[in-house]
Amino acid sequence: MQTVIDYRGKTKYDASTALAYNDRPARQQFAEMALLDKAFALVPKSRRVLDLPCGGGRASIHLARQGYQMSGADHSDAMLQIARQSLADNDLDCPLEKQDIEQLSYADRQFDSIVCFRLFHHFPTPSIRQKAVSELCRVAGSQVLISYSSPYSASSFARRLRALGGGRRSQKFTTSLGEVERYFGTQGFRLVKDFARSPFLHTLHLALFERVQ
Ligand SMILES: C[S@@+](CC[C@H](N)C(=O)[O-])C[C@H]1O[C@@H](n2cnc3c(N)ncnc32)[C@H](O)[C@@H]1O
Repeated sequence: MQTVIDYRGKTKYDASTALAYNDRPARQQFAEMALLDKAFALVPKSRRVLDLPCGGGRASIHLARQGYQMSGADHSDAMLQIARQSLADNDLDCPLEKQDIEQLSYADRQFDSIVCFRLFHHFPTPSIRQKAVSELCRVAGSQVLISYSSPYSASSFARRLRALGGGRRSQKFTTSLGEVERYFGTQGFRLVKDFARSPFLHTLHLALFERVQ
């Protein structure tokens, strides 16, 4: 029998957390969408793209406006409700579904590309990380774009120092690019490029992987 661990990032997005996440500062939202744009320069327009997790729908909206055929999925009902409303407010009609990244109900290669933005750092164990990556690679026809938290940045270093000094332990699990590459390598995907706002300052990276033919 499979053991499913309900880690905090999977259960914390109730109605109030979902609203708070959606209301994060505009400057931060803008910087994160700019990071997506850097990587999507290598994704042909009009592709079928799955935004998983879609959260409140900001990446789906951003990418749909650029001509991608977006679908979204998330595990949180509250997040999906916000995404539905935001898409409707923007006159966009993208299918949204409740899904668990560890066991997706999609067919093999159902989408051309998948973007998995700001979820990987919530995974507490290597086995969950591998399971999620295996599912993404099964459902992606050719590309997966995945963000992760790098341990080699000033902000990760500051977080570790705070924890050592008795401060609150961060809920962010960092992973090296090498570790992320290993999970994809087992599924026949190779790294195309790793993106970051400024790699040694900011912890958020976005890596583009593609299926090796
Ligand atoms: C930090 S938010 C990021 C949302 C979106 N990608 C964005 O950048 O706005 C993390 C999201 O992951 C979702 N999530 C957590 N565990 C999940 C799982 N096992 N399967 C699918 N979604 C999950 C949460 O519900 C939440 O919406």
